[in-house]
Amino acid sequence: MCGIIGCILSSGLVAPILFSGLKRLEYRGYDSAGMATICEGKLYLKKDSGKIDDINARLNFMDMPGSLGIAHTRWATHGAPSRENAHPHLDCSGRIAVVHNGVIENFLELKRELEDRGHRFTSRTDTEVIPHLIEEGVESGLNLYEATLQAVRRLRGSYAIAVISTVEPDKIVCARNESPLIVGIGDGAYYCASDIPAILEYTRNFISMDNGEIAILSLGGVEFRKISSGEIVSKKSFTVDWSVELAEKQGYPHFMLKEIYEQPLSLRNALRLQEQYLDLLSRFIDRGERVFLVACGTSYHACLAASYMFSKIAKVAAFPVVASEFLEQYGDSVGIDDVILAVSQSGETYDVLRAVDHARMKAATVLGLTNTVGSTLTRISRAYIVQQSGPEIGVAATKTFTSQLIVLAQLAMKVANLRGKLSQQESDHLRDSLKSMPEVVNRVLNSCADNVKLLAKRYAKKNLFLFLGRGINVATALEGRLKLLEITYIPSLAFSAAESKHGPISIVEKGVPVIFIAPRDSTRKEIVGNIMEMKARGAEIIALCEEDDGELIGLVDHHIPMPKGVPDILSPIPYVVPLQLFAYYVAVERGLDPDKPRNLAKSVTVP
Ligand code: F6R
Repeated sequence: MCGIIGCILSSGLVAPILFSGLKRLEYRGYDSAGMATICEGKLYLKKDSGKIDDINARLNFMDMPGSLGIAHTRWATHGAPSRENAHPHLDCSGRIAVVHNGVIENFLELKRELEDRGHRFTSRTDTEVIPHLIEEGVESGLNLYEATLQAVRRLRGSYAIAVISTVEPDKIVCARNESPLIVGIGDGAYYCASDIPAILEYTRNFISMDNGEIAILSLGGVEFRKISSGEIVSKKSFTVDWSVELAEKQGYPHFMLKEIYEQPLSLRNALRLQEQYLDLLSRFIDRGERVFLVACGTSYHACLAASYMFSKIAKVAAFPVVASEFLEQYGDSVGIDDVILAVSQSGETYDVLRAVDHARMKAATVLGLTNTVGSTLTRISRAYIVQQSGPEIGVAATKTFTSQLIVLAQLAMKVANLRGKLSQQESDHLRDSLKSMPEVVNRVLNSCADNVKLLAKRYAKKNLFLFLGRGINVATALEGRLKLLEITYIPSLAFSAAESKHGPISIVEKGVPVIFIAPRDSTRKEIVGNIMEMKARGAEIIALCEEDDGELIGLVDHHIPMPKGVPDILSPIPYVVPLQLFAYYVAVERGLDPDKPRNLAKSVTVP
């Protein structure tokens, strides 16, 4: 997730507006930033890695001339944070500048093709193919709009782009597919930006761009067209009366809720990983004598779920280990033939890095899964994958958890295919199910929110909760519990429902809410038994179960209907969503700020 902004003014300098927009967009990414303006037929460019204020202190964006320009704040996905990889990116001639938010899936093939035709690339980003594609259109006699249209028609993946060029120094062309983009209309000014807060200081009049649209901004007005047909689209503007603070959360009262609702998008981005890195990691995993999945907190829960995925489909025993215990538990036995897959959203968690350092010393192969390009984990791993969730502001991990799950599922599937463990039919079915996850989560969000809110209201004053599941959904239960306890401070327990009789059931008495994660999977018969034993002790049962699961619905006090037909190994992805919402709404009911739970930091970089 990056932030982009563009602006044309009838008079005055654009740089201060772009700079203040960048500051407002900083929450979307902050590892590098850049700006390009056009003045008297010349293109000016400044960019670097680092925080926006630090870059500005070094380069002084404010002295950039011109009343038209674009700017970008980056959250690296392809290529580490560096000056070369910072946006804007230029074509060979230095006449066209592009900023981009999103992921271009087919950039490698486009890059090869462009290089064969003599284009020179200076970065490792996916974005850089765009100015070069536009350059080819311009060279062939197309105007900036036509050349951009031709270029974006070649792109697969997600993008919000803004393009300027000295060839037509009075226009900004922008286009959108899946990444957000809005147009702002001011007094003698036109803007485009990733979101409303970036320009709310300057205008309250907006037009949203839809997927598959391209827009041409000039002082004469804005024209919107369809990318597919080039047909003009007429669009209505709307006025925003939000405060800047509310706008940063896109109208959501908290970042946590915004991030929960972002999951369909972050899952789509996590399905756009570069195949060559998935291939590389899966080959290392396949060759490993033993595979350890090492992480903390929520990331550990993703690892726990992944251990079921690897076992069930790839027939690989992968051991999930809490990073802080890795040294004590396996430190003496880990060796050259082992593979450690470290999972860390931040890539900076102390215990994870310590485990990884030790494993490296013992010559084991270290792999990483992280959300942060340029983090320590990416620097010390033999190979790594970036989950592409964008920055997560809420302290409680939500969208980064489901993205980790979907990346790990893709890895497990790759290893399964390498080992010949999946038939064509099984493989196709899994691939289709993976692809459907963003939409499945979207449906869950739409269908369960009201129901969950009511349940949160009803149970907010309870002082104990139990979360129970079996199989892979033990991980879901643990994650649901962690979400609830970290932001509501309500003591709660989670464990395999099978374990109840071995002790924890003694805690259950009349009125204790017990949340069962109960899809129709291979553990189903046993789960019914576990529900019965909890009911017999007076517990109030809330079940997350398939929408037509009449038998279960008849047994429990409340149920949250879930979509049918989700394969077992993917079920934690949709099933965790109502639990995230439940934790969120209970916190709100108790008057707590879910974005800032007490005693917690987003990244734990100390022992
Ligand atoms: C919980 C949460 C933490 C982190 C944990 C690991 O909501 O966010 O439990 O999951 O601190 O952090 P990373 O993934 O950055 O290593």
